[in-house]
Amino acid sequence: MCKIAQKGAEMKEKLLEEFRRVFGREAENVYFAPGRVNLIGEHTDYNGGHVFPCALTIGTYAAAAKNDDHTVRFYSMNFKDKGVITANIDDLKNERSHDWANYPKGVIKVMLDMGCPFVSGMDILYFGNIPNSSGLSSSASLEVLTGYVVRELFGLEIDFVELAKIGKKAENEFIGVNCGIMDQFAIAMGKKDNAIFLDTADLSYEYAPIVLENAKIVIASSNKKRGLNDSKYNERRGECEAALEKLKTVLEIHSLGELTEEQFEANRAVIGDPVKERRAKHAVYENQRTIKAVAALKANDIEEFGRLMVASHNSLRDDYEVTGLELDTLVEASLAQKGVIGSRMTGAGFGGCTVSIVKTEEVEEFIRNVGGLYKEKIGYAADFYVVDAGSGPYTL
Ligand code: GLA
Repeated sequence: MCKIAQKGAEMKEKLLEEFRRVFGREAENVYFAPGRVNLIGEHTDYNGGHVFPCALTIGTYAAAAKNDDHTVRFYSMNFKDKGVITANIDDLKNERSHDWANYPKGVIKVMLDMGCPFVSGMDILYFGNIPNSSGLSSSASLEVLTGYVVRELFGLEIDFVELAKIGKKAENEFIGVNCGIMDQFAIAMGKKDNAIFLDTADLSYEYAPIVLENAKIVIASSNKKRGLNDSKYNERRGECEAALEKLKTVLEIHSLGELTEEQFEANRAVIGDPVKERRAKHAVYENQRTIKAVAALKANDIEEFGRLMVASHNSLRDDYEVTGLELDTLVEASLAQKGVIGSRMTGAGFGGCTVSIVKTEEVEEFIRNVGGLYKEKIGYAADFYVVDAGSGPYTL
């Protein structure tokens, strides 16, 4: 058996055993959904722009079975202290004490509201190997996985784009974070060795191979915890919307993603507020950068891709103001290393991770040096992951 298949088999056994212990019966199956990393195109998804994320091979696993009553029972091996969290399927609402379980509850609620025919409740046990709050979308992974589990348990005909939309709706309406579609889409539609070039304006997408010649994708987690909820995420979104409203008074547009840099420059004065102007500038330029970056990758110009990654970080730092000392320190330290093609923060920001492209032969030294510099300046350690692009949800 190859190493990956063996690891999958071990994981399956571990979850089945834990399910038996917690729920005192057999699970029907074990399921997986990945995490994601965004290579470029940040804070563009709710502005009708492009993104370029890929699914990872790390993610969230679940063992699950239908039950005979109208109850959903959740247990996470990552939050054992919370025990089994129980809710009546006819009365699913966001409850603070239910903590992480509000994500799966939200997904099930959205599916019920859509009219999905559930014949019973269900018991689900989760285990994730994405570091929590790292910016690698552990919550979107949990959402898409839950949708997938329900689809499989009840034999529902729901395609994977729909699963992404359900996850996003749960996050927007049940959790209260006004996120875009990027994370759930990247997770639901992930394809091994590929990133997804997605136009969030109409959800058209294209896969682009990212098996890099002699280079690796290295993620550095700042270990500065953030929850999207308490971040300034919704505030940034509001600032972009306000800027768009002003631009609409002189331009016939529906989103910032429709503008070229030139159109933006010619009309930016109408926004009339320097902060909102900078937020909108980021959204417009970042979208154009993403289009250019994918073209560079297709032309095998990885150096140009790297330069655009750095420009993306600088814009997120100076115009969008979502980086902070930890992420800036990581990127600065990364760019000072040998063999680094590009580096930037990834995800919402305010903590979380950076993503760097590093020549394979320099990866070890990169991790040692960046790790050392980070600890020296910030006072605690960063964690590093050399990652591959993985596939969307599947049954083990
Ligand atoms: C979070 C959100 C996404 C996206 C990114 C920023 O990950 O969930 O929808 O907006 O931030 O690019």
